[in-house]
Amino acid sequence: MIIQDTEKRVFTLQTRSTTYQMKADENGVLLHVYYGPKVHGGDLSRLIRYADRGFSPNPDEAGNNRTYSLDTLPQEYSGSGAGDFRLPSLELELADGSHVADLRYVGAAVQKGKYALTGLPAFFASPEEADTLVITLEDAAAHVRVELLYGVLEEYDLITRAVRVINCGEEPVGICRAASVCLDFQDTPLDFITFDGGHVKERGLHRAPLRPGVQSVGSIRGISSHQHNPFVMLCQPGAGEEHGVCYGAALVYSGNFEAAAERSQFEDVRLTLGIHPFHFCWTLEPGQVFTTPEAALICSPCGFGQMSRQFHRAIRSHLLRDVWKDRRKPVLVNSWEAAYFDFDAQKLMTLAREAAGLGVELFVLDDGWFGHRNNDSSSLGDWWANEEKLPGGLGALSKEINALGMEFGLWIEPEMVSEDSELYQAHPDWVLNPPGRPYTRGRCQMVLDFTRPEVREHIFQALQKVLDSAHVSYLKWDMNRSLAQVWSAALPARQQGEVYHRYVLGVYDLLERFRQANPHTLIEGCSGGGGRFDMGMLYYTPQIWCSDNTDAIDRLAIQYGTSFAYPPATMGAHVSAIPNEQTGRSVPLATRGTVALSGTFGYEMDLGKLSEVEKALVVRQIADYKESFGLIQEGDYYRLTAPTPDGAPTAWLHVSPDRREALLCLVSGQTHAAQPFRRLRLRGLDPELRYRLTGDGEAWSGDVLMHAGYPIPMLGEYQSLRLWLKAE
Ligand code: DGJ
Repeated sequence: MIIQDTEKRVFTLQTRSTTYQMKADENGVLLHVYYGPKVHGGDLSRLIRYADRGFSPNPDEAGNNRTYSLDTLPQEYSGSGAGDFRLPSLELELADGSHVADLRYVGAAVQKGKYALTGLPAFFASPEEADTLVITLEDAAAHVRVELLYGVLEEYDLITRAVRVINCGEEPVGICRAASVCLDFQDTPLDFITFDGGHVKERGLHRAPLRPGVQSVGSIRGISSHQHNPFVMLCQPGAGEEHGVCYGAALVYSGNFEAAAERSQFEDVRLTLGIHPFHFCWTLEPGQVFTTPEAALICSPCGFGQMSRQFHRAIRSHLLRDVWKDRRKPVLVNSWEAAYFDFDAQKLMTLAREAAGLGVELFVLDDGWFGHRNNDSSSLGDWWANEEKLPGGLGALSKEINALGMEFGLWIEPEMVSEDSELYQAHPDWVLNPPGRPYTRGRCQMVLDFTRPEVREHIFQALQKVLDSAHVSYLKWDMNRSLAQVWSAALPARQQGEVYHRYVLGVYDLLERFRQANPHTLIEGCSGGGGRFDMGMLYYTPQIWCSDNTDAIDRLAIQYGTSFAYPPATMGAHVSAIPNEQTGRSVPLATRGTVALSGTFGYEMDLGKLSEVEKALVVRQIADYKESFGLIQEGDYYRLTAPTPDGAPTAWLHVSPDRREALLCLVSGQTHAAQPFRRLRLRGLDPELRYRLTGDGEAWSGDVLMHAGYPIPMLGEYQSLRLWLKAE
């Protein structure tokens, strides 16, 4: 609900369990008043304190009042160069060379329904489900207006934000920075939580108290990146899974981003999140509008778990759009770790036959099917089937696969080109690279200039022809390098600072075209695994390959970190062969299954190499997947323990919305002598209900399982449990 007090110029966003308030003060400065657990009490601006602080200057409107400074007040959308020396939200370069952005309140309006952003991914909702608040600010000297958009999805405690910057003057204006969100807190201390790692070790949780100064994470790789995720949290120092106030902030965007938290001299905290300012300068001609990506905020008054579950629900219902989002996804087998580039039609059919015999429903042909690609040094851009490997092309292969009763899926990497390709020979200027500079290659490949409509059109036509030639029901959209030497031959020098963002807009544009042209095709996002695991991509691809690391034990930490913002059913997770390709570790097939079954399930191996006993287990796993899919898709997710290297088990729980069913998953760690007797305290159950556990004769009451706990059997190293709890 959005409550506007137009007289006092107080704006309050009430969600199911949180309150967010701002106020335009007598000088027209939009102050941030409160964000946290739900409160009632009208104008809360008495919370804001004023004091004369040295070296904190006073704006003209304050006259001689030295207690009024932008440097000390909590701001809703901070300017720059005008007396607030903390993190700026907006930085402008004006025609006279000045870099001042100083915003004052102009007006506000409430609209039914949630705003949409043209060309950008965003949460959506019907007019019954959400409202929008638009607050307009202005820098009168710069002739720049800013519209702050707030979408309120009450049920999910979700507040979305985006910003429109409008040039109302007669001279061009450069935007050097435009954050999607700015959040000021005066009730610190707060811890900053980020999700970091690298290729094959994505989204590890890191938590630290905020020190004085700015702490930030971000990406300048052109993708949201394996290294840092565009989702961060702030929380009270004592907060944990089930207690304490915490805030999650996600950027619904897949390119360069910066999430920065600053603890000021007065121990206030400001968080800004938006497009990374590195090499970002957007020229706004008179009359033009620049729209930032959307940011999504959820505050939980009672710990991380509730915040995650609210994000999961909101993403499932209001971000994923695909026809596949509510359907059971087919169990797949992917050719990558089974064959890499070394295959022909015969070998693929052998893999497919084995898989079909065990109940696998979708065969995915990964990299290596096109041009003359036999390793990763050639052919990207030459999107036609290699008939030497695949006589009759993909049409013939997909037909044979379909005849086995399986769907056919295909890997593509549309954004890239190899120098060893016909496409590159014909259009060397389609590559992003400044003139006269030697290339910086990544995986031997170059990045296509997706800012250019003609480049996207070519790729669309070429790939759509491939899709039309075969019966393709699944696409894996990969992207395998960071952007470097970013420069577009299609833009003048003063607009080169737009290329990173225009590239992302180009990717979204092409994804949308493929979605529309192939509405029944399931698209899985991928960027060398989890290099672009973000809410922007989820708007186009309802699942994303979580990591190139398929080791079940490493995956525990990767999926754990990912789950803070993203629902399990969006995480691509496969059982692969042992010893694992990335770690060399051997983990039982059952455990590999337990971990992969809590994501979008599939296999990434030659199933023909398994023993008969193992094949029987595969059949069982597929049946388990079918049985548990609904619960994993729709249920609430509880992280029961965090993965640790010390041997303690990692456990999580999926609970049905009516709490009558739950699935307890547990993986033991390294084995040690004289293990402690451990109990696992479950969560999210109905304390009044009695639950029967698989393989356990007795029923357990919900309160016993949650307060006294479930005694974990002594398991060996890397063993797992997958226990159903069903209410009697
Ligand atoms: C990176 C992906 O993450 C892998 O799964 C595989 O598709 C390779 N690319 C193929 O080149």
